[in-house]
Amino acid sequence: MIVCSCNVFSDGQVRACLNPGPGCPRTPAQVYACLGCSPKCGRCARTIRGILSRALAEAHETCTSACGAACTLKAAEPAPAEAA
Ligand code: FES
Repeated sequence: MIVCSCNVFSDGQVRACLNPGPGCPRTPAQVYACLGCSPKCGRCARTIRGILSRALAEAHETCTSACGAACTLKAAEPAPAEAA
């Protein structure tokens, strides 16, 4: 599915640029840069953010042993006392 009609890229291309590690795009702007383009109208930013959130959450479920203490997603989670 095309998510950005200005730059003509798909949800699959967004997911393909999500590599594990510190260089992984975390924002729509970083996704545009990863795909070699820049935002034009910005209508796709919310959709890209949703794809990022879902893909990174899925990756985090399976990466706990791979990235361990260096996991930036783990650091963003609230502490147990804050979550209540
Ligand atoms: S739809 Fe992506 S910048 Fe316009």
